[in-house]
Amino acid sequence: MAITTVREALIEAASSLISASLTPQLDARVLLGHVLGLTQTQILAAFNDQLSTEQVEQFQGLIERRSALEPIAYLIGSREFYGLMFNVDRRVLVPRPDTEILVEQALTWIKQQQRPLVVADIGTGSGCIAVAVTKHAPTIKMYAVDLSPAALAVAQSNVERHGLQQQIELIHGDGVSQLPEPIDLLLSNPPYTLLDEIEPGVRLHEPTLALDGGPDGLDCYRQLLPATAAILRQGLPSAALFEIGAWQGSEVIALAQASFPQAKIQLVRDLAARDRVVQIEQV
Ligand SMILES: C[S@@+](CC[C@H](N)C(=O)[O-])C[C@H]1O[C@@H](n2cnc3c(N)ncnc32)[C@H](O)[C@@H]1O
Repeated sequence: MAITTVREALIEAASSLISASLTPQLDARVLLGHVLGLTQTQILAAFNDQLSTEQVEQFQGLIERRSALEPIAYLIGSREFYGLMFNVDRRVLVPRPDTEILVEQALTWIKQQQRPLVVADIGTGSGCIAVAVTKHAPTIKMYAVDLSPAALAVAQSNVERHGLQQQIELIHGDGVSQLPEPIDLLLSNPPYTLLDEIEPGVRLHEPTLALDGGPDGLDCYRQLLPATAAILRQGLPSAALFEIGAWQGSEVIALAQASFPQAKIQLVRDLAARDRVVQIEQV
């Protein structure tokens, strides 16, 4: 039977997504809502509405891409992070809720300082960390750095989406190498995964440069920690926050201690009680 109504389209799409997704019905509703420009509640109220041929074709195209494990965020072009909406596509990692704890820690540290601060986000991707922190601490100066010009174009769109062009400067560069001044607070969610161990949908569709942490997942920390020690402001309190994989705590702490022998270094857990952030503070 040809698909004609919202209800029929959703039933057929959900059944075809069963092997690709743990949430086939939700995925189908979100994607059809995107095609029709309707919220989830509006979709439920529109069950008997007829779909046009164009709508059916557009929806089927999205379901095919979802069947090939493409993240929903790429299919609808956006993702919520820290209560804000971000443009996302294949040029950037999809922002993860796990990363919100780094934003939380950054804002706590910023509020404890009573002076103008220069902050950097290394490996900014979509710009989600830089934008979320700056949105809640609008007096800071933020540098958002990425090695990927394509990712920086997405970050630029998000800086503009949130009206933060005055506060956030985007920089194309490798690690901290292009930062123009000492930094009070350095933030980074660097690539730290082992490509062989990533789930297929992520490995197939998200940028390798955003994921690949090298043979043991620690390449970026080895590069960034000593470089961070050299760029952090001296003589005043300064800090660095690095997101880590839940299994990397002891190794990254050891690397941090080698670069910051005098600093206070601690592991911060995420809401699921997994090690998630290495926090380095120096006075
Ligand atoms: C794990 S993603 C994080 C993206 C974003 N900050 C987030 O939390 O969703 C890592 C980012 O670091 C960038 N990157 C990788 N190596 C880099 C390097 N050497 N210097 C600067 N950025 C780098 C990648 O292009 C990618 O955008």
